[in-house]
Amino acid sequence: MKKTILAILMVLPTLAMAAGGAYTEKVDYDLHNKESLQNGAKLFVNYCLSCHSAAYQRYNRMGDDLGLTDAQVKANLMFAADKVGETMTVALQTEDAKKMFGTKVPDLSVVSRARGADWLYTYLRTFYKDDSRPFGVNNVTFADVGMPHVLWELEGMKKLVNADEMKAHPGTAPKFEKISEGKMSAAEYDSAMRDLTAFMVYMGEPAKLVRYELGIWVILFLVILFLVAYPMKKEFWKDIH
Ligand code: HEC
Repeated sequence: MKKTILAILMVLPTLAMAAGGAYTEKVDYDLHNKESLQNGAKLFVNYCLSCHSAAYQRYNRMGDDLGLTDAQVKANLMFAADKVGETMTVALQTEDAKKMFGTKVPDLSVVSRARGADWLYTYLRTFYKDDSRPFGVNNVTFADVGMPHVLWELEGMKKLVNADEMKAHPGTAPKFEKISEGKMSAAEYDSAMRDLTAFMVYMGEPAKLVRYELGIWVILFLVILFLVAYPMKKEFWKDIH
């Protein structure tokens, strides 16, 4: 009986998420891939940090985790601070943000935990042209979002062609048509957004990388312990059997 209750409790959260019905696409990222994380970090400081802060993220901690020296971090990733021990704050004041965007700009340190990687990846790839919105764009994943499509130079601009179908059947995948080309092909943009998503997941929990490494040693230790303990057990019990 206890086991049944436990099993039900364990699947409940997944059921709740499935019931949400919003369309998201799976993202296949790899936190072991330092190149991917570095590319994500670069995109983040170049395109996101001008509005969003990441107040829990220290530059030098990021350098260590991503395999970069302090000098590399300084040269490539620091535009908004001058000491590597500083956190990723932002010059934009809350009051100004409210005037410009009609809302405050959320800190992104732990957004991956609140939204999930799939949501972020889908969000970054579903901006579309909508002249009724203040910045001329809307987003499938976050309806009437207050954020402009800051990556339009890379992605180009597209329009949504199946809005009615999506309304009638929630969860339907959006269909887009390109109206202007960006600097990247669709595949390049997808891969860049995978890197950016991976970086945000890493930011949400920098300790994850450390834990991965620790895990290997723990398992190795258990294997060695077993190799020692098993013959010992045999030795102790052989007279009793
Ligand atoms: C020009 C300013 C600006 C820039 C640059 C910008 N954003 Fe935003 N972003 C916003 C605003 C404003 C909102 C709040 C939107 C709302 O609540 O309607 C937002 C919201 C978001 C959200 C939703 C947060 C949540 O959970 O509600 C995410 C995720 C996000 N931005 C990611 C990014 C990423 C990644 C980049 C860099 C590629 C970026 N933003 C660049 C202004 C900006």
